[in-house]
Amino acid sequence: MTYVLDDPAKLRSLDPQDMVGLVVRLGDWLEEGFELGRRLDASGWERPGHVLVLGMGGSGIGGDLLRALLYERAPFAVTVVKDYVPPAWVGPGTRVLACSYSGNTEETLAAYEAARSAGARCVVVSSGGQLVERAAAHGTPTVRIPGGLPPRAALGLLLGPMLGVADRAGWVEGLGAGVAETARLLRDLASEWGPGRPAAENPAKVLARALVGHVPVVYAASRLAEPAALRWKTQLNENSKVYATWNVFPELNHNETVGWALAGQPEALLQVVVLRDPQDPPRLVRRVQVTREISLGAAAGYHEVLARGNHPLARLLSLVLFGDLVSVYLAYLNEVDPTPVAVIDELKRRLAVA
Ligand code: PA5
Repeated sequence: MTYVLDDPAKLRSLDPQDMVGLVVRLGDWLEEGFELGRRLDASGWERPGHVLVLGMGGSGIGGDLLRALLYERAPFAVTVVKDYVPPAWVGPGTRVLACSYSGNTEETLAAYEAARSAGARCVVVSSGGQLVERAAAHGTPTVRIPGGLPPRAALGLLLGPMLGVADRAGWVEGLGAGVAETARLLRDLASEWGPGRPAAENPAKVLARALVGHVPVVYAASRLAEPAALRWKTQLNENSKVYATWNVFPELNHNETVGWALAGQPEALLQVVVLRDPQDPPRLVRRVQVTREISLGAAAGYHEVLARGNHPLARLLSLVLFGDLVSVYLAYLNEVDPTPVAVIDELKRRLAVA
């Protein structure tokens, strides 16, 4: 019998809206979004006092990725707000990227209005909805991205425009080359780890198999991988419909590590996945090693995933792509459709009438 993950007919029946086909287009959409963002006139954005990204869930993670990328490269802070209210320091020196795939997310709409009222200059990234309507009424520059996708599958289209604005504004050197390298790499990795590559030679399928019936604990070995770990967790939640948790070194050594003390407790249900970057500082590599030795022995399994590529964006998104594919494969193994997120829809519906 063909193994389920290697059976195209079975996968088509488990994934009628082709989430896997959307996931493997991350590189193409990153490039497309980048070009859309680059068309915007970024005058006045060259030297921001502070950059604020507004966005929830699948639209907010782009902000986390941007923040990680600019952390060591930009002479200003990037703050990501996933809330109705922007911080009190927002003012005319703040540049705001308001991202909502649907354009109808109430938290993002409220934070956008508040940031505008505080005098911040904004750019909107959205496929439509009220955010685009309001931006048109206010004269807010807008990157209109293609619609019709689950927001989390549109990551390339949401992150790409922000990188395009960053490039036009000259925030960091070499972003265009970084995006081109990343898109090329993601296309290669999509076939290396994609559904057409049999489990026997596909590490994403192998890892998904190990996660069945367990709680994934995703740790970023260093700061760069932090948003990738969060993305893994949220994709495991939304695509695989499983509970998952995440954390980042070195902070987790100052609290969470102690929580592994009672062997034989729920730790036996946990599968640890550490997201590593070939450029992780030696001190952090040592931390991961020692933590594994003294704390993680009680887990049901321990796995490391190593980033690929040269540019930090490529390294970061290689980890994201691997996790996205693992989450879809785990959905198949759990026999759930990766696309619907009924609970999110129901919450939005009930809150809309309240
Ligand atoms: O994955 C999802 O569907 C959610 O996390 C959404 O992204 C989130 O609810 C926000 O909606 P939107 O991306 O349309 O602003």
